[in-house]
Amino acid sequence: MKILVTGGAGFIGSNFIRYLLAAEPDAVIVNFDALTYAGNLASLKDVESNPRYLFVKGDISDPESVKEVFANHQPEIVINFAAESHVDRSILSAAEFVRANVMGTQVLLGAAREFKVSRFCQVSTDEVYGSLKPGDPPFVETTPLQANSPYAASKAGADLLVRSYVHTHGLDAVITRCSNNYGSYQFPEKFIPLFTINAMRDQELPLYGDGRNVRDWIHVLDHCDGVWSAAKKGRAGEVYNFGCDNEWANIDIAHLLLEILGKPQSLIKLVKDRPGHDRRYAMGFAKAARELDWQPQVQFETGLAETVRWYQQNTEWWSNVISGEYQSYYQRQYGKGGVVG
Ligand code: NAD
Ligand code: TYD
Repeated sequence: MKILVTGGAGFIGSNFIRYLLAAEPDAVIVNFDALTYAGNLASLKDVESNPRYLFVKGDISDPESVKEVFANHQPEIVINFAAESHVDRSILSAAEFVRANVMGTQVLLGAAREFKVSRFCQVSTDEVYGSLKPGDPPFVETTPLQANSPYAASKAGADLLVRSYVHTHGLDAVITRCSNNYGSYQFPEKFIPLFTINAMRDQELPLYGDGRNVRDWIHVLDHCDGVWSAAKKGRAGEVYNFGCDNEWANIDIAHLLLEILGKPQSLIKLVKDRPGHDRRYAMGFAKAARELDWQPQVQFETGLAETVRWYQQNTEWWSNVISGEYQSYYQRQYGKGGVVG
């Protein structure tokens, strides 16, 4: 079973590759990643010599590199994690989000068609549904798309392209939409690793607005399990939501992290709000439970404490990420460009 995983050097993609190598003894994985600032091969150090794993450096929005990887490896399944993923960056500059997330998905869809891939799985996000008010029911798969940030808009655009390739070209594709992930190897610009690392270093925790925005946090391995269940068992053309029935206000997570780390609550600093900041996300996942037999397994307090411990025990990983050192790790390890594995 040959699987092309795009964006496999990022947070969720690297966890997914590790998960899949363990879960599927027949899986041979090609990781296609552009190694942007968020891509880090040090996150896959433990699997890099696995004979069922291969890394190919390339950009999903570059038709030639995409064609080459499909022609050389003939994947049966494609799982697209590759994306620009940080809302704050999309507010500063949206162009890269349109290129990577929208154009990149279109290029991949074209190649999936041309090379007759049997299943395409698009990894999307709850953010395409917009924002909930307190008391609103959670998002379901039929909730209208109301993306509010340029990041969310680019992901919604990609989802619609996937839908159109199913409808028009008969491509066998599914879309997954998940709530906020936490876990090991998450880039420390995102809320939980940023607050964890800042607290470990006795630095302020910059909490946006009134700190009462709500997210439905899910452990990254539960998400990986959901993506693989949808790729294997999902019905073509369908969307599957994943969440954890685990809504937390940001300020309560900040309190909890400081408690776990034994640091003073006075490190919390309310700062200017993010423009257009979505107030609340919550995912209804009854369809995934019913059709894919999927349920989240990791209890939040346990998963969060384990995640904090991981950041405490892996200071080298995040110190290198913060210093930009990991970008030269790739150069040192593999030389310039090309295929390795
Ligand atoms: P990430 O930013 O940690 O990783 C993204 C990866 O994609 C990096 O390795 C990067 O090098 C690669 N990449 C970016 N542009 C590329 C391009 N043009 N060509 C090839 N590779 C490219 O992101 P993440 O948090 O791991 O998210 C992965 C996917 O899951 C994204 O599609 C995101 O929208 C989705 N998602 C994330 C969350 C979350 O909470 N993090 C929740 C739901 C869905
Ligand atoms: P983030 O991890 O960026 O995920 P998303 O915006 O995609 O949900 O942020 C999670 C929440 O934490 C969100 O409500 C914004 C908030 N936040 C802060 O309060 N301070 C920060 O420094 C960051 C990065 C996020």
